[in-house]
Amino acid sequence: MNRRQYDFNYHLAPKKGLLNDPNGLVKFKGKYHVFYQWNQTGTVHKNKSWGHFVSDDFVTFTELAPALEPKDWFDKDGVYSGCAIVHEDKLYIFYTGNVKDAYGVRSAYQCLATSDDGVNFEKKGPIFTYPKGYTAHTRDPKVWYDEIEKRWLMVLGAQREDLTGDTILYQSQNLLDWTFVGSVFQFDTPVGYMWECPDLIQIDGRYVLICSPQGVEPDGYAYHNIYQTAYIIGEFKHNEFKTHATQFIEQDRGFEFYAPQTFYGTDNRVIQYGWMGIMEPNKEQAIPTVQDGWVHHLSLPRELRIQDNYLMQSPIKELEQLRQNGSTFDVTHEKIIILPEYAMDIVLYGLDDNVVRLQVRNEVVVFYEPIEKLVTVERTNWLTGEKEYRHCVLRNALDNMRLLMEESSIELFINNGEEVFSMRYFATDNDMTFIISGNATVEMYEMKNMFKQ
Ligand code: FRU
Repeated sequence: MNRRQYDFNYHLAPKKGLLNDPNGLVKFKGKYHVFYQWNQTGTVHKNKSWGHFVSDDFVTFTELAPALEPKDWFDKDGVYSGCAIVHEDKLYIFYTGNVKDAYGVRSAYQCLATSDDGVNFEKKGPIFTYPKGYTAHTRDPKVWYDEIEKRWLMVLGAQREDLTGDTILYQSQNLLDWTFVGSVFQFDTPVGYMWECPDLIQIDGRYVLICSPQGVEPDGYAYHNIYQTAYIIGEFKHNEFKTHATQFIEQDRGFEFYAPQTFYGTDNRVIQYGWMGIMEPNKEQAIPTVQDGWVHHLSLPRELRIQDNYLMQSPIKELEQLRQNGSTFDVTHEKIIILPEYAMDIVLYGLDDNVVRLQVRNEVVVFYEPIEKLVTVERTNWLTGEKEYRHCVLRNALDNMRLLMEESSIELFINNGEEVFSMRYFATDNDMTFIISGNATVEMYEMKNMFKQ
């Protein structure tokens, strides 16, 4: 098969149709499973199935048949997002069945499916709907085992009847019967109107609540996308998440990163995938790949750590195995490079908190200004043709940057993951120049294709 324009060497994307959230991330019987929200038949948000990739090592991936499809009364309008856990050698999948009646009125069923082999899945049907005081915007179950109180816990994204967002908690002894516990955490003043895809996970001995709140207003340099993902660090005790922090922190400073999910990989690493990513519907339909019948991809898997009360995010180390044809060189003042390939891993270090400007093809500019410690990313909006910008202020002096790029996507990790900017870009010419202005030592690699042919 010929390579599709704007396609990826080392990111997961659908072979046709639309991909959104990562789902059911799990290691089961020696394999990593990455499921995803997939409209198999079109590039709009309808008919969601669970698409399915597997990998032995996070280096090469194979695509399997879709695991779950919207074919039953309780999920007929979408097998929505959810998670997977392993219990007694079985895979348990929790997801939300989305159902709309003839008048478009929504119901949400939290559903279970199981699998003995990770290839064949058996739907067990709904286990509950949603609690009193909440609307049918209750979805995206994430389950884990609470070692202290010996019970299974589930968080769900929710909307209260007063149309404010929340994350709610259920508990179970047997994974089948669930009881409502309550809201996990609230700010003094409600934030947003719906919190999608909550994830409450222990990292480095702390708990982090990561979720994708909808309806958060722009605040300084943060929250300039239609929706974004945010986190807050605290402690989870008994049934409550407690924190000294008073607000969410935007997890990714770029244009496209949404609805991520974490799981524990080997060595107990917390690994997260996100969707790149949510955007206004007219911008989504203007993505050039829509003409070819497919759209979106998942972010790279990131390892999450906590440092000084902030999340640190770095591409998992397995990705380095995809590197080839590496070179190392120093830049003083400026260097213009012609990129040999679209799929590259470019590391710049020794930046010494000086001004740096990177220009990627004719499309993306990264600029660092040390007085304010301000990073600015500029790209061309493919719908309007205008430049658009995202910014963030670093906490530490700029030392290093790593750009993981493809023909239509860039993830920029700054200072070993102190901040990340994820973004799409769509070049309309074949220009392959990469201009580095500043002083740096640079390592540059081409990235191999990770799909088993
Ligand atoms: C987040 C989301 C989830 C939902 C899924 C449907 O992007 O809206 O809340 O389960 O996508 O595809």
